[in-house]
Amino acid sequence: MARLLLSPPYIGGREEVYVREAFESNWIAPLGPQVTALEEALAARVEMPYALATASGTSALHLALKALGVGKGDRVFCSSFTFAASCNPIVYQGAEPVFIDSDPVTLNLSADALSRALADAKREGKLPRAVVVVDLYGRSADFDRILPLCREYGVPVLEDAAEALGATYHGRPCGSFGDLSVLSFNGNKIITTSGGGMVFCREESLRQKMLFWATQAKEPVLHYEHTEIGYNYRLSNVCAAIGRGQLEILDEKLSRRLANHESYRALLADAPVTFAPEFDGNRENHWLSFCFLNDDVALTSEQVCLKLLEMDLETRPAWKPMHAQPVFSSCRAYSHGGGEDFVSDRLYDRGVCLPSGDLLTEDDRVRVAEALRSIIG
Ligand SMILES: Cc1ncc(COP(=O)(O)O)c(C=O)c1O
Repeated sequence: MARLLLSPPYIGGREEVYVREAFESNWIAPLGPQVTALEEALAARVEMPYALATASGTSALHLALKALGVGKGDRVFCSSFTFAASCNPIVYQGAEPVFIDSDPVTLNLSADALSRALADAKREGKLPRAVVVVDLYGRSADFDRILPLCREYGVPVLEDAAEALGATYHGRPCGSFGDLSVLSFNGNKIITTSGGGMVFCREESLRQKMLFWATQAKEPVLHYEHTEIGYNYRLSNVCAAIGRGQLEILDEKLSRRLANHESYRALLADAPVTFAPEFDGNRENHWLSFCFLNDDVALTSEQVCLKLLEMDLETRPAWKPMHAQPVFSSCRAYSHGGGEDFVSDRLYDRGVCLPSGDLLTEDDRVRVAEALRSIIG
């Protein structure tokens, strides 16, 4: 039987038509009409005024942190339950990440932990320069609580919606809640450009500044003049062409991912697993379908995933939280409840992400559910 992958790309729209346009017009460059068209289409979809296409979600985060003025010695708060790319750019900027645990309902940044962390930071006279809030697995964070808290302390929010294109919270798109926000179009994301990302902002001057840094910080003169350090962070016109075709089938992809999730829920209804709780206003994109092993399952998520791999099923444990990563062991972290236990440790220990591709059939999902049941009972 063929291996089922976690989240392979599905190219089903007019990607090749746009790529051909790029070739025929000889725009094989990190700028061009496909890039502009993708930026305009995504700014409209995410309901943000300005968009800048980048080579990756990670470079988008880096530019956004720079735009927020994050620099050497600053503190930046960040969701702990995420992929390392959410916080690595904080360190690129010479700043110090402080990790915030998950809320047990949203699974994203805990407003309780954030509230304590902000109060401590104020007392210490060192408020963070920004808070990076992640919409993990295409689930919204609790912006109803997080945004007023950040506003109260005057701290801007950078929304990492890398995994959340198409998700909404109270009808508003994920990616529209931060002062700045980012998406990723990595190969495994809900839409891909083979590799790429986008940063959104609310002021044209910020977009201009990020564009400047993303294109090697060249001063506007004919000879090459530099007064700042720059990066080569723009998205290629050819990759943007793929993204345009992908965006046209986003809604189809969303309904395919929802079908995966609903099917797994039904197929695993009597298995010793639990699905993430629903919460008011959250409409997920179900980028990945995932479930949590119940306490009576003796195996960890890692052990279960390894056994599934032997059956040619590619799955993954939920993200290992950043406060538990060796590379960030010296960083401060705030738990949801205020004690030693972190909600996100438990999510990692119990969470299993299931094959979630757009082209899964019901037979594939039955195969996954039966394999999982054969391992955990
Ligand atoms: C939550 C999160 N943030 C950031 C990134 C970085 O995106 P990229 O891989 O496009 O650099 C990813 C994905 O890889 C991600 O899942």
